[in-house]
Amino acid sequence: MTSPAAVFAYCRAGFEAEAGLDLARIAARAAIRLDVEAHPGAACVVARSPHVDVAAWDRACAAAPPVFARAIAIGGDAVALTAAPAAGARVDRVTPLVAAIETLAQQRSHAPPWRSVWLEYPDTNEGKALSPLARALAPRVEGELRARRALDERAPRRLRVFLADGQRAFVGTALAEHGDWPLGIPRLRMPRGAPSRSTLKLAEAFAAFLGDDETRLLRAGQRAVDLGAAPGGWTWQLVQRGLRVTAVDNGRLRGEVAGDPLVTHVRDDGLHWRPRRPVDWLVCDIVEQPLRIADLVAAWIADGAARRAIFNLKLPMKKRYDEVQRCEQRMAAVLRPTGAHWTLRLRQLYHDREEVTGYLARDRN
Ligand SMILES: C[S@@+](CC[C@H](N)C(=O)[O-])C[C@H]1O[C@@H](n2cnc3c(N)ncnc32)[C@H](O)[C@@H]1O
Repeated sequence: MTSPAAVFAYCRAGFEAEAGLDLARIAARAAIRLDVEAHPGAACVVARSPHVDVAAWDRACAAAPPVFARAIAIGGDAVALTAAPAAGARVDRVTPLVAAIETLAQQRSHAPPWRSVWLEYPDTNEGKALSPLARALAPRVEGELRARRALDERAPRRLRVFLADGQRAFVGTALAEHGDWPLGIPRLRMPRGAPSRSTLKLAEAFAAFLGDDETRLLRAGQRAVDLGAAPGGWTWQLVQRGLRVTAVDNGRLRGEVAGDPLVTHVRDDGLHWRPRRPVDWLVCDIVEQPLRIADLVAAWIADGAARRAIFNLKLPMKKRYDEVQRCEQRMAAVLRPTGAHWTLRLRQLYHDREEVTGYLARDRN
């Protein structure tokens, strides 16, 4: 089924052009015409289309997941929130929102029930000023939906309401998936014993890429190598899960991991060091040219030195999307001759700045 639509996406401020390219890539794959509007610094992108086939969009999204868009929803065009109130009355933003939700609900591909409703706003200083409004509206909108029996926690789609500003909102739905957080922002607390904030990056990567499979894929007793490990934030995450870690770095490990019996510190060059026996996990946070890291990680997976990898690619200042695509192509070029099947995901996590995080795993043939 097709319908006139707006597609809206959230991203890190400054990466609107890249998030727009994500949307264009998905649209091309789904054979959907999309006019993307990306304003620098807005931390969101809105695109319009005469028709979006929601099922085709979802398939394209699954086949070519976005790298820079933290979340994408499809719905109707902007809803005006501030109808002039009668003298002395308060501005009623709930009524127009609920009316827009009801209109959307009539389209079969968006129909309720929905897993939940999230009220979201851009991840910018101006956006954050909308958080009291979002908090005030959320229980009222949710109450209206519960009264209509429109919410069911087993439903595949989630309703997402994006407050672009105090006056305009977009209402849409998206498949509920792992790595899916309100505003695209995981709430992770800095763990006490971890020696660096970048520990949160690996914690987020596990949640984003592994989801419910995390406890199956990351188990006590597995072996891991951490390239560029110092001061030890990533190693700390692995050790917390009971993995034995070889931490390769000429720099010093600090805090709890430095003396941990599960950790072996190897002072060596991570670009050349290899383990004697294959390991379950490779993680790599070396600051290097992205193509060099892409080559390195793909080689570890191609020759079976590691089964799965999580790695960070530091992006150049310009042509960031091109660089990401070059890395994808390079990894595929290394892996293809092995005849293996693999899963590769690249994503700018919330804790990433001028960088993206990757997950590469060899599938069972
Ligand atoms: C961004 S830091 C890693 C932070 C670490 N993931 C954490 O959570 O604490 C990058 C590290 O890579 C190391 N490094 C840079 N080039 C390296 C190389 N060729 N081999 C091994 N380590 C390298 C640096 O010494 C530095 O400690």
